Amino acid sequence: MELKVLFIFCLGLGTVLAGRDFYKILGIQKSATTNQIKKAYRKLAKELHPDRNQGDTEKASAQFQDLGAAYETLSDPEKRELYDRCGEECVSKEGAGGGGMDPFASFFGDFGFGFGGNGNQGQREVAKGADIVMDLFVTLEELYSGNFVEITHNKPVLKPAKGTRKCNCRQEMVTRQLGPGRFQMMQQAVCDECPNVKLVNEERVLEVEIEQGMTDGSEQRFTAEGEPHTDGEPGDLRLRIQTSPHSVFERRGDDLYTNVTISLADALAGFELDIEHLDGHKVHIVRDKVTWPGARIRKKGEGMPNYENNNLFGMLYVTFDVQFPKEELTTETKEKLRELLSQNSINKVYNGLRGF
Ligand SMILES: *[C@@H]1O[C@H](CO)[C@@H](O)[C@H](O)[C@H]1NC(C)=O
Repeated sequence: MELKVLFIFCLGLGTVLAGRDFYKILGIQKSATTNQIKKAYRKLAKELHPDRNQGDTEKASAQFQDLGAAYETLSDPEKRELYDRCGEECVSKEGAGGGGMDPFASFFGDFGFGFGGNGNQGQREVAKGADIVMDLFVTLEELYSGNFVEITHNKPVLKPAKGTRKCNCRQEMVTRQLGPGRFQMMQQAVCDECPNVKLVNEERVLEVEIEQGMTDGSEQRFTAEGEPHTDGEPGDLRLRIQTSPHSVFERRGDDLYTNVTISLADALAGFELDIEHLDGHKVHIVRDKVTWPGARIRKKGEGMPNYENNNLFGMLYVTFDVQFPKEELTTETKEKLRELLSQNSINKVYNGLRGF
């Protein structure tokens, strides 16, 4: 139904051991949701990534393969059902034939954590297409809870075409005989003939993880998903996280800010209220003191999750603003209020801009 086809890869039938426990490999429960599966996969893939395990490479790479197979099966509802019914063997039989695609190519960018690729830097100068940088707008809700999104992009890919083209052009000195004993040396452009190529748009589905607490400007890099280069490698696709404005919360670092309008009666007499947070949980607020316009309270641990440590949360700042009654009060009510509040006139005149 969905574009699962891209994620199918050859399980290498002969070599796969039958009957691995994919749930155990991912460290999840049988009832795990697709989102939980992706999360678990993503976390373990980071830990087990071959680039990170220089020591026992063989073991790490085997674990990485197991992990890939587990994810590949359980993230696909149809395959998962098959697997739940009769184990890995069924899935292999039914799902084979994907054709040796790199299972990790289209997942979650390049794990964006400083590994991958730094091994072969500067070895040779390969022409590279331009990077494509794209803003990926995400909601605060997604950044609070984390999410996985699929983005479809049309990737221009070079395909062989009829005919030839000039390539590897360079300047060379050639000698021409003008007459007996007379030669002329001159520079000439010399090219090779290469098979022709044409640009074809290919639809690609990329799975992007929006991690909890990511900040604006952080990038997910997808290697070789950028502009192609006729004589070299394609550039990368870089997705840059941008937070869409939210109607209730504003984020500053890991802290959240919100405003609440209360009535004058509540401001004087106290109140209780719930603020619905980004994941739907309620933040309960109780005040029995007088709340003046601009008063601000802090709720610890109700801000955004920290990107480095998702168990740490910032602060939630709630600023109150007080709505005064708009209708004219009767003389009688006015008298009653004066009596009730028994507050003398103050009428202090001061320079508020300087804080005197
Ligand atoms: C909302 O709260 C902020 C502080 O968090 C404050 O600067 C701003 O004036 C408040 N807005 C209103 C309309 O009260």
